[in-house]
This record gives sequence, C-alpha cells and structure tokens, in this order.
Amino acid sequence: MTSILILNGPNLNLLGTRQPEVYGNTTLGDIEAMCRARAEEMGLALAFEQSNSEGVLIDMIHAARDTHDGIILNAGAYTHTSVALMDAISSTELPVIELHLSNIHAREEFRHRSYIARVAVGVICGFGAAGYPLAMDALATHLSDGS
Ligand code: DQA
Repeated sequence: MTSILILNGPNLNLLGTRQPEVYGNTTLGDIEAMCRARAEEMGLALAFEQSNSEGVLIDMIHAARDTHDGIILNAGAYTHTSVALMDAISSTELPVIELHLSNIHAREEFRHRSYIARVAVGVICGFGAAGYPLAMDALATHLSDGS
C-alpha cells in the first residue's frame, strides 16, 4: 500500500485560532480528519505529524525514507529560511509536494522565497485547508505515473 507523510511545521498547531483572516477557522485536527477520510477513499496509508522544531522536522524527513513513499510538507515559516530542511529533502530522494494554506506570493516579500520549492515536485498554495486533499491527489498521481 502506498504510504504518505503529511508534515506540518511551526505554529500550524495553532490553526483555528491563529490569524483566522489569513489561515481560516479550520483546526489542524479538522484537517487531519479530512486527510484521513480522503486517504481511506484513495487507499493510501497516511501519517500526519506536526512539530515546531526544525530538528524534529528534519529527523521525521530522514525517517520517512524507510517508511513512506512521498511527503506533503507545509514547513510554515521554515519554508523561507531553512537550507537544512531543503538538504534533508534532497538527501531522502522522496518526492515532496510543498503546501501552504495561504497564497505566499500575494503576501509579504520575505514569503516569496521558498527553499523547499527548489527540491519539491510542485507547490500548492492559496486554497486554505482544501489544499491538503489537493496535495494528496497530486502526490498520488505523481507516485503512480510520475507526473
Ligand atoms: C504557511 C505560510 C508561511 O509563510 C507561514 O510562515 C506559515 C503558514 C501557510 O500555510 O500559509 O506558518 O506555511
């Protein structure tokens, strides 16, 4: 069975109460439930994780090499700063879809740069919580036919 990891970075544990005008009212628990339902429909095994720590995220990416076929990563603010996360992705050679709830290109200049995008298969942003199932479809398609 194809297995995917959805990894959420810093401050995403606060979804639902954090800047709802930017990120919406959906909690990370709601998003996890939505992803689990979608994974069942799609016949995918799913791990869903969150950490505020860059090192823990890197360790989870390394561990994914042995347990998962691909990763959906919302790295939060580390997207814009972390060469270390980019290198971790390159090291695992697993396909990664970069994901953001907000449209980072319509926001502040410092959010326009992504270190993750350089090593990602593709990027989904701006669709709020609905981006998670979109990213699952994109990753499953990529894993099945390389597109
Ligand atoms: C985010 C966008 C990032 O710029 C921000 O730092 C986040 C959330 C998003 O999902 O829209 O923490 O990744």
